[in-house]
Amino acid sequence: MGPNSPHSTRLVIVMVGLPARGKTYIARKVARFLSWLGYRTRVFNIGDYRRARLGSKHRHEFFDPRNAEGNRARSEMAEAALGDLLTWMETGGEVAIYDATNSTHKRRVSVRNRCLDRGLQVVFIESLCEDPAIIEANIRETKLTSPDYAGMDPDEAVADFRARIAHYESVYQPLTDADAEGASYIKLIDVGRVVVVHRLDGYLPAKLLFYLLNLHVVRRPIYLTRHGESTLNQDGRIGGDAPLSPAGTRYAQALAEFVELLDLKPEVFTSTLQRTMQTAAPLCVPATPWRALDEIDAGICDGMTYSEIAAQMPHEFEARQRDKLRYRYPRGESYQDVIARLEPVIIELERQRRPLMVIAHQAVLRALYAYFIDKAPEDVLRMEIPLHTVIQLAPGPYAFVETRHTLV
Ligand code: F6P
Repeated sequence: MGPNSPHSTRLVIVMVGLPARGKTYIARKVARFLSWLGYRTRVFNIGDYRRARLGSKHRHEFFDPRNAEGNRARSEMAEAALGDLLTWMETGGEVAIYDATNSTHKRRVSVRNRCLDRGLQVVFIESLCEDPAIIEANIRETKLTSPDYAGMDPDEAVADFRARIAHYESVYQPLTDADAEGASYIKLIDVGRVVVVHRLDGYLPAKLLFYLLNLHVVRRPIYLTRHGESTLNQDGRIGGDAPLSPAGTRYAQALAEFVELLDLKPEVFTSTLQRTMQTAAPLCVPATPWRALDEIDAGICDGMTYSEIAAQMPHEFEARQRDKLRYRYPRGESYQDVIARLEPVIIELERQRRPLMVIAHQAVLRALYAYFIDKAPEDVLRMEIPLHTVIQLAPGPYAFVETRHTLV
């Protein structure tokens, strides 16, 4: 069952769209968001099945609808991916994303019926785009790095990919109300310039829509940093609302110089705790404090050291060691609670088109970092986010490229 829903969640998201319309980008982003929120989510990408089973050297002729052999091989791959998807949903999956062109009415009806027969909810997401600049950028950014074109001259690869698109265009039928009788769908036109929503029903589909409304493809870096050292950090005490130590103040200065040199004028968010606001104070740009970015609330342990907690409340200490994600400090929070309150932060960070800097705290930054680098929160809960270090996440085709800058 999904973490925030009272009902059991079993949703299949079926992508629809011509090649190079950002389907895989959207599928991966949605998967990352929902997994981060705690839904068991997986993407089934037909291209991956084709490359794994048939190799990656298919030129455009393979995708020509008049090529009987190609048609047979492609429907086998579509079938294999769908079969695995349905099996996965029967064995504990909560959200599956079927990432394929699903370009004809007939195909979509068949996929939807097979899901409905198994009691699965279906939402189509169609990405339509006729802007040649966006399509060109998409081809150059994502397709040229695909194994399909490894070692090939870039212009030749682009020409081949354009021919592949033309094959799909010759049979493509956009989703219409008639086509999707009773079906739920979200149609994204020109990367969100127009969004059409049809018969969307339920908590998770609504959450999905809200997320999609805020997605864009503008590439901008994200900088994550903890506040400068606080006087409580000096004593190894958790939580609290202490001011910066002299070393922390030096970091705030160094961060201001770093931002000045970047010459990016990022949008800056801090928590409402003074150590983050003091860290942002010397910056040449204003910072917005946000309560959702406050550090994990350690409840009755606030202000203690880890050894004091271990000595005075050994059961609490051990319970947290055992399950750091779900453990909730008495009268405080768990990491899962932190993730839930960070959901609007993620939406806002996605919505922003400018470079971003978040000055926050260790637990909060672990949660945000997990989202941006697409890791399960469990996998980063023990990772150190060092003080006085900026984590730079620069956009790559599908993932961020990370660089760390230690400033003092
Ligand atoms: O120690 C600094 C700190 O930000 C504390 O305020 C917070 O409780 C802790 O890190 C979070 O890290 P962990 O979840 O590993 O205890």
